[in-house]
Amino acid sequence: MKFCSSQRLGSVLALFFFALVFWDVLGVRALDNGLARTPTMGWLHWERFMCNLDCQEEPDSCISEQLFMQMAELMVSDGWKDAGYEYVCIDDCWMAPQRDSKGRLQADPQRFPGGIRRLANYVHSKGLKLGIYADVGNKTCAGFPGSFGYYDIDAKTFADWGVDLLKFDGCHCDSINLLAKGYKHMSLALNKTGRSIVYSCEWPLYMWPLHQPNYKKIRQYCNHWRNFADIYDSWESIKLILDWTASNQDRIVNIAGPGGWNDPDMLVIGNFGLSWDQQVTQMALWAIMAAPLFMSNDLRQINPQAKALLQNKDVIAVNQDPLGKQGYRLRKEKDIEVWERPLSNLAWAVALRNLKEIGGPLSYTTSLVSLGKGVACNPGCFITQLLPMKKDYGFYGWTSSFKTQINPTGTVLLKLEAISVN
Ligand code: GLA
Repeated sequence: MKFCSSQRLGSVLALFFFALVFWDVLGVRALDNGLARTPTMGWLHWERFMCNLDCQEEPDSCISEQLFMQMAELMVSDGWKDAGYEYVCIDDCWMAPQRDSKGRLQADPQRFPGGIRRLANYVHSKGLKLGIYADVGNKTCAGFPGSFGYYDIDAKTFADWGVDLLKFDGCHCDSINLLAKGYKHMSLALNKTGRSIVYSCEWPLYMWPLHQPNYKKIRQYCNHWRNFADIYDSWESIKLILDWTASNQDRIVNIAGPGGWNDPDMLVIGNFGLSWDQQVTQMALWAIMAAPLFMSNDLRQINPQAKALLQNKDVIAVNQDPLGKQGYRLRKEKDIEVWERPLSNLAWAVALRNLKEIGGPLSYTTSLVSLGKGVACNPGCFITQLLPMKKDYGFYGWTSSFKTQINPTGTVLLKLEAISVN
């Protein structure tokens, strides 16, 4: 890792921090850009396409304007946009190795011959939004130019191009002080452009090894923030993310809400590494966690089952619930975890996760009083299973139990809707 070179704060920066102190005094809590009132939904290239620069050998999977144009087209024609996926996002490796003569970032001219502005116009013409990637330090994680020392120029460049979201990575900046200053500076620089740009941070992820993050502060600057290591196309990776989230829930759950969300990283549904039940678990738990839903898959070749799962309206409605409260792990037993999330209209989502990786479906019975703070089914509720497939279970009284079967590594996602007493 390389340290960002230390620079004295200029007077502009000093002004920014004065403004910040002022905000603090007034108690402003969320990033005040009006965006991400529900978790952001879209597509992001990283997990599936990584840093493939070889457009000679692999024209269909290298990081090029063609890839994003194709994804944008499919997002409209194949129902993704209608399901709520809106942001087509570029990750690392889009840049030319040098800035231009005016110090501006530029796209690699071979792989993005039309430049980002034209790509943004194309994406906008489809009724979608464009996301881009940069880094708070001297270089991006893959070694392309970093934004350190260029925050204002880069924010302006992105706004001029018509970019709608910035994923701001934290590589090559291992002074914790500069990391924090950089994330704040870029947030203010984006706001100053006057363009609505969702600000997706990795600030806490890079802080954790050195210092416990101040989530209240992070929420004031970012629309969502990564806490934990990069997702892989594997069940091991999903389990690690869920375990980390559950172990840290007392620190992170209450901080999430409209305008600012914990980001457990991309959805890898529709790729190679997860079984059907594991894909169901990812979708169900990402809905419970109120996670931004960024798919990283190949929309040109995705099987119908994965597509139906990703486009499941009932599950997306849980993820996007307007109450905006993140769910949590309610309890962990030997073979089962129970997660729950309060929803609007006094409803609850409940996820029953089978931790076993051996054997067949596990029978599980839960008392309804133990769910939803004791009120989800008081005096009674209607239970609908949303995953792995929709099933209406009908009415249950407060003192009754609910029994179901859960496949190994799979999850049953339920919605509980309380009946009103009058
Ligand atoms: C980091 C991020 C990933 C991805 C890569 C790109 O590892 O956490 O999500 O953006 O960088 O290099």
